[in-house]
Amino acid sequence: MNFENILVSQNENLAVITINRPTKLNALNKKTIEELHTAFKALDVNSKIKVIIITGSGEKAFVAGADISEFSDYTTEEGAELARNGQELLFNFVQNLNTPVIAAVNGFALGGGLELAMAAHFRVASTNAKMGLPEVSLGVIPGYGGTQRLPQLVGKGKAMEMIMTAGMISAEEAKEWGLVNYVVAQEELIPLCEKLASKIIRNSSVAIAAAIKSINANYNNTVNGFNVEIEQFGISFGTNDFKEGTTAFLEKRKPNFE
Ligand code: COA
Repeated sequence: MNFENILVSQNENLAVITINRPTKLNALNKKTIEELHTAFKALDVNSKIKVIIITGSGEKAFVAGADISEFSDYTTEEGAELARNGQELLFNFVQNLNTPVIAAVNGFALGGGLELAMAAHFRVASTNAKMGLPEVSLGVIPGYGGTQRLPQLVGKGKAMEMIMTAGMISAEEAKEWGLVNYVVAQEELIPLCEKLASKIIRNSSVAIAAAIKSINANYNNTVNGFNVEIEQFGISFGTNDFKEGTTAFLEKRKPNFE
């Protein structure tokens, strides 16, 4: 896959997508969002790929937000379209992938950058990372799901404070708040994500996809999450992975998932 603004590498069952506009602190312009959509889509249907890590290039930023230079003269309609398109192509798209996505937050994750990290299935940060949703300081609000996902992750009060103050929190605070799962030195960030990925890769990717669907259902007002869980639980019983997983357990050996 050849892209202008992102790099995609694959090693066995793991893929790493690196947003690569370091001189713009990896800000998300339209082209980058389209490229990310294409890359995520292709990796998700690639049965060899079992985990995707998303990170930013350079040592300073994961993503410093949506590219402000692109939308500063937008109209009301163009603004709504920007948010709708972005949510569909990237943020909701990533959240609903079958393949687990880990955000390796290697520096500033601001605005659309934090929203992208929050759309991933979980987050790991380096000690220098700083996170915030500064949109109200620009006279706008988070438009890529930030007003929804931040309260889901940190609770309503903290989300209100973070969005209203437009302030940044440190990686350690983000961990305390439940926004990231781990904080490590920058050089240990990708190795830790790889280690977590290797644990995920050992398990049934079919079951993991069913778990993602069921957990996401908890945040979808239009469905009953318990019913989704029952349905996905039942579907698991018809899969080869279930047969292999349970047989391997009874035969006291490691499962060999397809
Ligand atoms: N959109 C477009 N360009 C951005 C950007 C964004 N969200 N964030 C950073 N950049 C660009 C800067 O314009 C600058 O480009 P230039 O060198 O061509 O002038 C380059 O990235 C480096 O950023 P700079 O501001 O010089 O770095 P800094 O270390 O002084 O500050 C930040 C870092 C992250 C604090 C600062 O860049 C910032 O506040 N960015 C915007 C964050 C934001 O509001 N995001 C939400 C957008 S909705």
